[in-house]
Amino acid sequence: MDTQTYNYKVVRQFAIMTVVWGIVGMLVGVIVAAQLYLPALNLSEIGPWFHFGRLRPLHTNAVIFAFGGCGLFATSYYVVQRTCNTRLFGGWLASFTFWGWQAVIVAAVITLPMGFTQGKEYAELEWPIDILLTLVWVAYAIVFFGTIAKRKVKHIYVANWFYGGFILAVALLHIVNNISIPVGFMKSYPVYAGAIDAMVQWWYGHNAVGFFLTAGFLGMMYYFVPKQAGRPVYSYRLSVVHFWALIFTYMWAGPHHLHYTALPDWTQSLGMVLSLILFAPSWGGMINGIMTLSGAWDKLRTDPILKFLIVSLSFYGMSTFEGPMMSIKTVNALSHYTDWTVAHVHAGALGWVGFVTIGSIYYLIPRLFGKTQMHSVKLIEAHFWIATIGVVLYIAAMWIAGVMQGLMWGSLNDDGTLTYSFVESVKRTMPYYAIRVVGGLMYLAGMCIMAYNVYRTAISGKPVEAEIPAVSQQHH
Ligand code: HEM
Ligand code: HEM
Repeated sequence: MDTQTYNYKVVRQFAIMTVVWGIVGMLVGVIVAAQLYLPALNLSEIGPWFHFGRLRPLHTNAVIFAFGGCGLFATSYYVVQRTCNTRLFGGWLASFTFWGWQAVIVAAVITLPMGFTQGKEYAELEWPIDILLTLVWVAYAIVFFGTIAKRKVKHIYVANWFYGGFILAVALLHIVNNISIPVGFMKSYPVYAGAIDAMVQWWYGHNAVGFFLTAGFLGMMYYFVPKQAGRPVYSYRLSVVHFWALIFTYMWAGPHHLHYTALPDWTQSLGMVLSLILFAPSWGGMINGIMTLSGAWDKLRTDPILKFLIVSLSFYGMSTFEGPMMSIKTVNALSHYTDWTVAHVHAGALGWVGFVTIGSIYYLIPRLFGKTQMHSVKLIEAHFWIATIGVVLYIAAMWIAGVMQGLMWGSLNDDGTLTYSFVESVKRTMPYYAIRVVGGLMYLAGMCIMAYNVYRTAISGKPVEAEIPAVSQQHH
């Protein structure tokens, strides 16, 4: 009977862990935010383990790869089966990706506070963990593309193109950026040196944003927004143009992270121009998602899941307008090194990635536990508002702080000396750091409400495996 049902078990496992790692990663986010306001929280007396410098990479790894990653695994496994009308390919391999991915995360939780790091942002994990990650990712690709290969529907729905692009690009990025020479069990040196190392790292870093934090989540958008709205995608043709334009353009934008550095000037300008072009496919996709609601706008009033999904697209639009602007060299001269960058990051991370994931998981949970809806729709509504206010507090505070820092650092007296010392700018930033802690706590509280709601839904239902319809040419 096995082959007549979808594999929901692995979807369920990843969906639950999305919520769990979301709470862990955001808790660490709140802790590092609090440390910037209250340095005593670094707990130096008991050792270096809880220092900002050790917990910050734990935060980024936990939210991006554990929270975001589990959300991507859960939704891609669900979407590829449903749209291909077939059970996941590869039998136990899917289960291996679940346990392997959890092992990578646990290894990160242990080694990062201990201080093991390659020193590359978003690629901190040392070589033994990188190898495990590669094995898991290859298994993921086999399961995903194997399912596409044995599909019972001729057409490959656009969400799968985005997920597929994300899986291939991340494999390429991870392998190229991590080529290094081990000199001990937990120590290695990259094969690249100097400016080339920086260039490879930010080719990786920016495409981590473009493929890990964007393309995969656009796959989510193309499935869950039409589903929850009960309407077809606004323009299917636009979605295909969106896909090719986005993946082509993202690959070139990395050097905008290295303006005014030792990188050759022409590469900086090229990165800037392609970042500006990136605005077009980003907004094309955002508009395609939002316009999917045409004729069903009234649903926004009563459906908090749809609120999460649609507001996520507004934040996507906002951060992909801001990004191209910040990549203009003269604007970057003001924004770089300031909290403006951190505001931009979290508009994308909390507003776009966080909200689209939360909305999709709320869609999935009842279906995975044989229920028609979540235990409490009111609690989803509460989650939506507390999280929205949290994001706004976080990013507004960091925008103001960032522009202030940039202006203070660049301000000169008539005789050419600096008007402000660095410490003065730090002092002036403190109130904004306090506001960020409050915003972060609200966002975290929302995740705790979600965990309770998921728990209640799960225990009132039971794990189910849906049957695969016999022959159908429709999208599911
Ligand atoms: C409760 C929620 C969160 C809080 C309070 C929080 C807080 C922070 C803080 C304090 C930093 C360090 C900023 C600095 O070095 O000055 C940071 C960095 C970062 N966070 Fe979060 N965060 C949260 C959620 C998230 C989520 C959900 C994601 C991704 C999906 C994310 C992605 C990042 C990234 C990528 C950075 C590095 C930014 C950079 O290097 O410019 N955060 N976060
Ligand atoms: C058209 C799209 C986008 C462009 C052109 C863009 C451009 C930029 C620029 C210019 C920076 C500042 C680099 C610096 O001064 O150091 C930046 C930083 C960043 N952006 Fe974006 N951005 C875009 C969309 C997004 C989205 C949607 C997200 C998140 C989901 C995101 C996440 C980040 C992160 C994590 C960083 C900080 C990297 C670091 O320094 O650690 N970006 N982006």
